[in-house]
Amino acid sequence: MRIIFIGDIFGKPGRHIVRELLPDLVRARSIDLVIANGENSAAGFGITPALAEELFDYGIDVITTGNHVWDKREIIEYFHMADDNPYSPARRVLRPANYPDGTPGWGVYEGRTRSGIPYAVINLQGRVFMGTNEDPFRYADDLISRTTSKVILVDFHAEATSEKIALGWHLDGRVTAVLGTHTHIPTADERVLPGGTAYQTDVGMTGPYDSVIGVAKECILQKFLTNMPVRFEPASGDVRLCAAIIDCDPETGRAHQIERLMVDERVMQHEVSHK
Ligand SMILES: [Fe+2]
Ligand SMILES: [Fe+2]
Repeated sequence: MRIIFIGDIFGKPGRHIVRELLPDLVRARSIDLVIANGENSAAGFGITPALAEELFDYGIDVITTGNHVWDKREIIEYFHMADDNPYSPARRVLRPANYPDGTPGWGVYEGRTRSGIPYAVINLQGRVFMGTNEDPFRYADDLISRTTSKVILVDFHAEATSEKIALGWHLDGRVTAVLGTHTHIPTADERVLPGGTAYQTDVGMTGPYDSVIGVAKECILQKFLTNMPVRFEPASGDVRLCAAIIDCDPETGRAHQIERLMVDERVMQHEVSHK
């Protein structure tokens, strides 16, 4: 079984590169399941119901988020649509599971691929250098104990590399993959841990790299140089898609390979023509 996990999709440039490249990637690489972090889909800040469904149309099966999940308030009503309807597409948009009890939305999704393989996606958020929320380690233990699928992918939306690798080790042998998001910078540490859990500290952003983590660099420079309030505008240049491709055994859920991917449209055309 092959899964692709796409890192934080940032604004229109991020959505468009997904639209341009994902169908060919799925075909060329025989991908069974597509998961993406969409917390920055709406011009860098949050996600709306319409944008979530646009991403589903591009071939994404499950969307995870993070600290930006509430930036667009329409998402709250969307989450409530799934409260009584497990088949609502809204049920396939997650917010971190370890937010306080009673928060709208869900942090876990269990489904089946088109070929019938059961899988679960768990979204968690870190606590180091981030807002307060419940312990992601204990939450992960509890959620995994209640998950029936063998194939389990965890999006750990966190700032600190130490907290991320620590969760990777904590879950090694119990989940298929622990993949980091949030920093928008891909890390070159992808590996399969000894227990069979694929791991990467941060998958990286899918969006404009001629920027400071997606935002126009002039805005961020102004902020650092003056420390005054600045309006953040999304950037547009040097758009890339960052993802991890994980191969696993659907019977055991253990991974045997993880590949780090960073593609722009030119590289992609080259790759597809050689496969
Ligand atoms: Fe992000
Ligand atoms: Fe984030």
